[in-house]
Amino acid sequence: MENFNFYSPTEFVFGKDRENECGEYVLKHGGSKVLIHYGGGSAVRSGLLDRVCASLDKSGISYVKLGGVQPNPRSGLVYQGIDICRNEKIDFILAVGGGSVIDSSKAIAAGTVYDGDFWDFYCGKRITEALPVGTVLTIAAAGSEGSPDSVITKEEGMFKRGASGDAIRPRFSILNPALTQSLPPHQTAAGITDIMAHLYERYLTNSKEVEVTDRLIEGLLLTMVHEGPRVIKDPNNYDARANIMWAGMMAHNNSCGVGRSQDWNSHNIEHELSALYDCAHGAGLAVTLPAVFTYVCDHDVMRFAQVAVRVWGCQMDFANPRATAMEGIEKLRQFFISIGMPKNFEELGAKKEDIPKLVEVLCRGNGRDGSISGFVTLNEDDCTKIYELMI
Ligand code: NZQ
Ligand code: ZN
Repeated sequence: MENFNFYSPTEFVFGKDRENECGEYVLKHGGSKVLIHYGGGSAVRSGLLDRVCASLDKSGISYVKLGGVQPNPRSGLVYQGIDICRNEKIDFILAVGGGSVIDSSKAIAAGTVYDGDFWDFYCGKRITEALPVGTVLTIAAAGSEGSPDSVITKEEGMFKRGASGDAIRPRFSILNPALTQSLPPHQTAAGITDIMAHLYERYLTNSKEVEVTDRLIEGLLLTMVHEGPRVIKDPNNYDARANIMWAGMMAHNNSCGVGRSQDWNSHNIEHELSALYDCAHGAGLAVTLPAVFTYVCDHDVMRFAQVAVRVWGCQMDFANPRATAMEGIEKLRQFFISIGMPKNFEELGAKKEDIPKLVEVLCRGNGRDGSISGFVTLNEDDCTKIYELMI
């Protein structure tokens, strides 16, 4: 196990109706004038936004609303949010929505107190200062409710890039699983896929002797394999929703990632797909993960065989561990298909002829030097072959 610091200061407020307490938590965490940031309308239609406003009113907190965050959130709205926060002297941002809304809120929070262009943070500058952010989560997926990360797409060039820093970890996150019952099945499934991807990105490590985190990841993957189909079959199953929601947080606040190197090549490869085709991030991952894993399997066959046996119930073939490893990858692929995720480029809406463009932006865009690194280093030729495996 490698040396690490783990700092996860978010207060999690979990359970039914807890959004009605958000005013108290804003006060507790020092907010007096709030920007309520939300998405394209689901929070309005469900009445959630009204409940959030009522709770702030009850606590005597004033607020300004800014809606319109789209999935794969864009830089344009971030600039608008920064202007509002400065002009209105906002001191707290409350994100009401999913990963896209939370990430846009985090970008605004960091940009408001920064003299330069907020995009600097998405080109590698670490975020060390930001307005405090709280969240009311409406979809179990990205894990942004507990993470120090934000992913934004810059319209010029359609670069989808991430920024990080403990300063943007939410001060509190309200997790009411019942709020996720209104999700369309495709979004529920995309969320399940993203959560599993966050676990696999950590599982693929070059660090040795990481039994605790290996076992945590395997336990969470097993939970997803159990609860995913239950919730797809019965979207109103509160208990399945609750387990998935907490697994989503655990998968990405890095409690399972400490003391070990991590991968993230699949996320980088997928981000180009959701940037170009505006597909759900999780749907892109369903197509990406099996392709990447097939390509890199030989780097550490035993790691893939281990997850195949421990999570997917495969029998270990000691004479041919690669066969076991590949069987586990195939079971993962079939699982994604079984919950309604796309299985290839065509179903995702991606085009073979775009591969050179995807590879160019992935490996050269935004200051990259021709490769991406994680579990293995992948150059342009490798990435081309991986996208080709998705056809
Ligand atoms: O905009 P509204 O109308 O709210 O609709 C949203 C959106 O269309 C809808 N939705 C959300 N909650 C709902 C609901 N519809 C009905 N009922 C509800 N309760 O679902 C759609 C997707 O929402 P979005 O916020 O985009 O989903 P998700 O949480 O999957 O976030 C995806 C974004 O997070 C980034 C992804 O790249 C992507 O941009 N990620 C962020 C990470 C982080 N900050 O740590 C890590 C992840 O790996 C990921 O990259
Ligand atoms: Zn993700």
